[in-house]
Amino acid sequence: MSGYTGCKRYVRYLGLFFLPILAFAVFMAGCNNEGGENEGKPAQLAAGVPDSVKKIAEERGLSEKDVEAALKTYIPSGKFDDYVLFASGGHSGQVFVIGVPSMRLLKTIAVFTPEPWQGWATGSAETHEILTSGDMPIGEDRTLNWADTHHPALTETNGDYDGQFLFINDKANARVAVIDLRDFETKQIVKNPNTISDHGATFVTPNSEYVIETTQYATPLPFYEFASLDEYKEKYKGLATLYKFDREKGRIDESASFSIELPPYWQDLCDAGKKVSDGWIFCNSINAEMATGGINEGNPPFEAGISQREADYLHIINWKKAEEVFKAGKTKELNGAHIIPLDTAIEEGILYFVDVPKSPHGVDVTPDGNFIIASGKLDTHATVYSFNKLMDAIKKGAPEKDEFGVPVLAFDDVVEAQVEIGLGPLHTQFDSDGNAYTSVFIESTLAKWRLGPPIYNGPDPWTLVEKIPVQYNIGHAVCAEGDTVSPDGKYCVALNKWSIDRFLPVGPLHPQNFQLIDISGDKMELLYDMPIGVGEPHYVQMIKADKLKPWLVYPEVGFDPATMSVDPEATTVGNEKIEIDGNTVRVSMSAIRSHFNPEHITVNQGDKVTMYITNVERARDATHGFAIDGYNINLSLEPGESTKVEFSADKPGVFPFYCTEFCSALHLEMMGYLLVKPGPGS
Ligand code: CUA
Repeated sequence: MSGYTGCKRYVRYLGLFFLPILAFAVFMAGCNNEGGENEGKPAQLAAGVPDSVKKIAEERGLSEKDVEAALKTYIPSGKFDDYVLFASGGHSGQVFVIGVPSMRLLKTIAVFTPEPWQGWATGSAETHEILTSGDMPIGEDRTLNWADTHHPALTETNGDYDGQFLFINDKANARVAVIDLRDFETKQIVKNPNTISDHGATFVTPNSEYVIETTQYATPLPFYEFASLDEYKEKYKGLATLYKFDREKGRIDESASFSIELPPYWQDLCDAGKKVSDGWIFCNSINAEMATGGINEGNPPFEAGISQREADYLHIINWKKAEEVFKAGKTKELNGAHIIPLDTAIEEGILYFVDVPKSPHGVDVTPDGNFIIASGKLDTHATVYSFNKLMDAIKKGAPEKDEFGVPVLAFDDVVEAQVEIGLGPLHTQFDSDGNAYTSVFIESTLAKWRLGPPIYNGPDPWTLVEKIPVQYNIGHAVCAEGDTVSPDGKYCVALNKWSIDRFLPVGPLHPQNFQLIDISGDKMELLYDMPIGVGEPHYVQMIKADKLKPWLVYPEVGFDPATMSVDPEATTVGNEKIEIDGNTVRVSMSAIRSHFNPEHITVNQGDKVTMYITNVERARDATHGFAIDGYNINLSLEPGESTKVEFSADKPGVFPFYCTEFCSALHLEMMGYLLVKPGPGS
């Protein structure tokens, strides 16, 4: 196609002057309109920059860099982004879906928090059941309706994202959710019955055999059994749980999942080995001191107590061995979960430690699987461990043990390099050219540095290349497919905390700031700031957009997203009816532009009402809502979807129900009446 070569040729002349850049802008905009009605116009514009464009830049006070950044992120109407971010929603308990490079929010996926637009646990029986299936094993009325989501993990095949499923954890309650990326809906929420806090989740093994979850704040095992803090060393435990993922069913299989008991060292983030290191998991920890705080009793506060030692322990876990041990039945059962006791883990060669300096946070395995990178929050280095050296050291035998008998490998035997990064390095991602990108919290920078052989064989291995300032307080960073076996490079996003001066002020609670950074050139360039005004996202994964194959409507009419199959109870056209049996009422309802059928539902006060409502449409723009005033019910019925509603008609009166999506010109008329006749006692 001649337009394409034209675009390519022009790139060579880019970058010298402001004018060619502007010309390029207009020209590239034309290039995007492949074969459209604008063909012919781009060539005209390429001949020179229209004065109108120069004038806009001048009037808006835009620098050459600003214009360049604008051109790199602008997506014309009707065109799509190249990448998709799946961002944890922090305390919103949800997941955000964001396009890159435009940084436009595409969707919020409801996970742990009721969400009315998607009808998530706001009336539909199926979604309510999924949400409450993650409730606590203590107290039947303890319905959890928020979460602290932290680390999303896309499913992988051979260490690469496959775009099928997404996992996300709830740090506050040790829950893990499964989202199906065919319809971008949550399918399952699993509560760990033995632990209450899980920062180190979710991470997957290279073929998503397991989803990894580690305990953060140690508690007695199980967490609801009381033990005083004086008994910390004896009674408090950590756990690494490996949830078996059944890809066929799209669900975690709890019966095939197991945990490994760990000392109460406050396990933190993990990463699974890949390629050469497949079969192993690496997790950090931050409280080798086993500090228990107690500022009011004259003890050092937690922050000081857990920072006394020079090093904490990197946990090196042989998950393939652990799987064998679990399958051989060498586990104890606790609340229906299988746990490999710490002594067994030590005897069987499942667990090893090595020092990692100064309160580490992230741990990240390089794309080739050869190196494990950990950084101490109170250190200035990234410490690089060699997987081969770790294996040699394990074979040789550990020179020491920790006080629980876990073998501790010699630091000097296993470290490949320590790279000076800056103040407060946290998390590391990778590109396709042998570079690493580490977020540096205290400095508020993203640092680019070179790896070493065999993943990088050029000059100056293990050295810092460049840093770019970010605004401000960067936690994680993400680069395009930057934690897989084949990172793409191109973009990183800095996930910054409160953006105190980047956006119009909106009161004392400031939005977070996602900053898009171009890493494709010699120097990193800041392209875009995106405010996040809902919760504090912790971690994000960035997947190539063409790996996602979502449905545009449900595949068949009567589809139940909870089972991903046609609900036999779904209403079909012509079978709409109301059946009354004593005080139970069953309503079979269809929804189609622009009416519900039936439109009148008359019941007696106290009747138990069950409704099966099916959207019988096949068009993509034909989602209907279903709300009953006064009954706290709102559903989303996407084309083809069938949903069940159960409620007790305990309030007498007349309650309109109506469609909450603007589905047609006669959308306001898409309504009906629920008539609840007062009972004898009212
Ligand atoms: Cu259906 Cu509005």
